Amino acid sequence: SPINGKDVRVWCDGCYDMVHFGHANSLRQAKALGDKVIVGIHTDAEITKHKGPPVFTEEERVKMVKGIKWVDEVVLGAPYVTTLEVLDQNNCDFCVHGDDITMTAEGVDTYHLVKSANRYKEVRRTAGVSTTDLVGRMLLLTRNHFRQGSAEYDIEKEAKMLKLLQIKSHPGSSNMGQDSAAKSPWTGCSQFLPTTQKIIQFSDGKSPNAGDKIVYVAGAFDLFHVGHLDFLEKASKLGDYLIVGLHTDPVVNSYKGSNYPIMNLHERVLSVLACKFVNEVVIGAPYCVTEELLEHFKIDVVCHGRTPIAMEDGKIDPYAVPKTKAIFELIDSGNEMTTERIVERIISHRLEY
Ligand code: CTP
Ligand code: C5P
Repeated sequence: SPINGKDVRVWCDGCYDMVHFGHANSLRQAKALGDKVIVGIHTDAEITKHKGPPVFTEEERVKMVKGIKWVDEVVLGAPYVTTLEVLDQNNCDFCVHGDDITMTAEGVDTYHLVKSANRYKEVRRTAGVSTTDLVGRMLLLTRNHFRQGSAEYDIEKEAKMLKLLQIKSHPGSSNMGQDSAAKSPWTGCSQFLPTTQKIIQFSDGKSPNAGDKIVYVAGAFDLFHVGHLDFLEKASKLGDYLIVGLHTDPVVNSYKGSNYPIMNLHERVLSVLACKFVNEVVIGAPYCVTEELLEHFKIDVVCHGRTPIAMEDGKIDPYAVPKTKAIFELIDSGNEMTTERIVERIISHRLEY
């Protein structure tokens, strides 16, 4: 809370190259230490000098950080070694970083200046998620011999079909929240351990106000990226309260194939919850937007972005119900980024460097 009526301004800096919920969680903890969070982002040139070229451009990195709900301001061009001058220029009281040691190419602790001036605080790094882990999963995706994952998914798919059949033979029964289990084929990779505590910390805990126009979108939101961000910003502008439905891992796999999704359901939940345009997330939303779902959340408008809409079982339009009710809208995010593009970028980046 403000000291002498003045906001406590907290400085965070970094590369923020493949923004994930670990970054978001450090910014959340930083926000709790003050009133305003100011994030300094290194330029492409600065990162190239110290650890080789980033995968994402500075424009993309800035956009991703600006989209995180605990961030108040973003400054491009932060020095690799945090200086007292940069803190003063931005009226920041102190600097916050995760409890991992970061060094320059010359082996200098990037926080030595702020540490010796007592203007440094540490927060806990989020275990089980890092750019390295995510890149590892993407590289595994390209290996043909890595097929255990698909087999796991086939079992899930069969289970799903069985459930669908049961629902068809028991028309009164609910299919909301079905197969809500997250199943990831990335068994060799580090996995984040989700807890209700983390979900509570990421969620804003606000219900819609009476009369709010409620917008619903659904998807995979795998490797949450700038395309998702632009889409969600536009979707949020169609109403007052945005609900994002996340498909379960077996459902995403049934329309994306291969070893998708790269991030499991729980990881995708946190990435989407960290986005400032999102008010609520449905954990394991049914693929088809049903009458029941629309009624349950009192949804006024349903939308989908610029990517193609996959039909369920190759023939059922998941938006048939909202279309019939004339509450469906297509949105052009104006952004061409996709999860597959990120994977391609990572792979060509790895081949180059
Ligand atoms: N961070 C964190 N938990 C993680 C990853 C990053 O708390 N799992 C924090 C870092 O400690 C730092 C901030 O996020 O305070 C931004 O740092 P950046 O240089 O972008 O992140 P990296 O440490 O390079 O993270 P990664 O290896 O995942 O890219
Ligand atoms: O592909 P995925 O299910 O993650 O997409 C979630 C939503 O974001 C979809 O409505 C999709 O059309 C939209 N999107 C977009 N522009 C992009 C990427 C996704 O509008 N570049």
